[in-house]
Amino acid sequence: MCGIVGYVGFRPALDVVVAGLKRLEYRGYDSAGVAVLADGGLATAKRAGKLVNLDKALAEAPLPGGTVGLGHTRWATHGAPNDANAHPHLDNAGRVAVVHNGIIENFAALRAELAGRGHALASETDTEVVSHLLAEAFSACGDLAEAMRQVCRRLDGAFTLVAVHADEPGVVVGARRNSPLVVGVGDGEAFLASDVAAFIDHTREAVELGQDQVVEARRDGVTVTTFDGAPGEVRNFHVDWDASAAEKGGYASFMLKEIAEQPKAVADTLLGRIDEAGTLVLDEVRIPAETLREAEKVVIVACGTAFHAALIAKYAIEHWTRMPCEVELASEFRYRDPILDQRTLVVAISQSGETMDTLMALRHAREQGARVLAICNTNGSTIPRESDAVLYTHAGPEVAVASTKAFLTQLVACYLVALYLGQVRGTKWGDEIRDVVRELSGVPARLERVLETMEPVRELARTLADKRTVLFLGRHVGYPVALEGALKLKELAYMHAEGFAAGELKHGPIALVERDLPVVVVVPSPRGRSVLHGKIVSNIQEIRARGARTVVIAEEGDESVVPYADHLVRIPATPTLLQPLVATVPLQVFACELATARGNEVDQPRNLAKSVTVE
Ligand code: AGP
Repeated sequence: MCGIVGYVGFRPALDVVVAGLKRLEYRGYDSAGVAVLADGGLATAKRAGKLVNLDKALAEAPLPGGTVGLGHTRWATHGAPNDANAHPHLDNAGRVAVVHNGIIENFAALRAELAGRGHALASETDTEVVSHLLAEAFSACGDLAEAMRQVCRRLDGAFTLVAVHADEPGVVVGARRNSPLVVGVGDGEAFLASDVAAFIDHTREAVELGQDQVVEARRDGVTVTTFDGAPGEVRNFHVDWDASAAEKGGYASFMLKEIAEQPKAVADTLLGRIDEAGTLVLDEVRIPAETLREAEKVVIVACGTAFHAALIAKYAIEHWTRMPCEVELASEFRYRDPILDQRTLVVAISQSGETMDTLMALRHAREQGARVLAICNTNGSTIPRESDAVLYTHAGPEVAVASTKAFLTQLVACYLVALYLGQVRGTKWGDEIRDVVRELSGVPARLERVLETMEPVRELARTLADKRTVLFLGRHVGYPVALEGALKLKELAYMHAEGFAAGELKHGPIALVERDLPVVVVVPSPRGRSVLHGKIVSNIQEIRARGARTVVIAEEGDESVVPYADHLVRIPATPTLLQPLVATVPLQVFACELATARGNEVDQPRNLAKSVTVE
């Protein structure tokens, strides 16, 4: 949950590093710092608060120029977000600078050991032990990469580390365990970063690092080893999106941009996966068809919004494949002692590919013999690398902490997996699959129509900015949509919001309903299961009779809801199982606008980070 940038090359290191940190600010923004090698020494600056505070400090007291450096934006885990705890951290001689993402679980013992050898630690962080250990190891071996290997062998926990040493000025060294680190390789320069967005202005040629690896980056190239010094497996890849994709593109926020990008994101996620005959082509699902045929159940593990996608996927998988499908919060999964074996297909859904809860869940599943398929939006990230196969969503970089386009593309990927399972297992005929695929291909146009009609939703949101709570109701696949709408409002407007299965109202939640309480209701298609539609119309009447202010999301042409809707939001007619793709968008817009009306920073909501890389 922190942003890391390291650079060695010919450019002014601080320019490269600070610009890279700006691209990574979404990963953590409660303090920031930089270090540069210059004049035989090490110069640093670090400040609590957002990156702009560091910018001001650098403007007031510029650091000397140099072409090797590193930087960090922090999301605090150990130690308050203040100047002293900001990274980089140095050794007592001020010759080593290190930045870190993750948690060093045995830092307390290491701190005590270092203090016993006379080291004076200046911060409350776990990270600082690394700078002192590196200094000791370097003084013995004179090689920063070897020093890093020795130190990493002593660390427990999850970490990305990047370090420089004034006595070895031509190298930046990085290491990773259970935490992201990618390498950018340019002509006469190299970059280490948490995310490719930090260096795609300069190069799109990247190197993905494996678990427990150390990378030594120099102007003439990079060397990768294991923590034991053996040659490390190196996977080169080309970053297929450009710098502008990582910018706001004229929108007031990344979130608004990413909401608007949803039609393209869905279209891009379908690209290349459906042949001319309308048959699915999912070669990248490198799990043998026989294994999928023998699978006896599917278990999906995910967190947050990705978990809501998983809940929706369950309906599609069970309906199209007749396989039992369990959905589990990744953070609960392995503690439940789940029943898994080689006939279990585990699907791990993650936008960032670095969510520790989900990573640990898939590791547990693999230890139990299950096959794991990742659905992920971030090439080169840990979760796909540790899975048996991956189906990438092609949403492009999702910078805003609140997930929008990634969610819709996760749904598309889940539908494709469900159809693929049906195709492989023979529970869906080719023509049935083609019918669903045709509907999916029509979703981008439907999304464009929804986006064109959102002004009334924004106006409504602004009128509700002073409300204390909003409830969300749905049935069937509309229930996870209600949960997602509530999550968006919580994480953006800092407002209490709760999603319910509408059928649960009478079992307690209806006691919450009072005059003028806003209740958003996601109404299923009347063309699907009419009994489902009829019941939710009754639910709307029940809450309206008790004074609720009903905000009804319903299909064009569904007139039965009109008498009970204080606010009616129309969505294009869509097959029942695919409706979440269009019904979610008004809820995203609603939450974003209400948060904005409250003066909140929608891209970087308080207390949250884009990628939760600690458990
Ligand atoms: C959703 O808006 C949040 N940002 C959060 O719930 C997120 O979906 C969750 O942390 C999972 O992240 P992942 O998809 O990167 O694994």
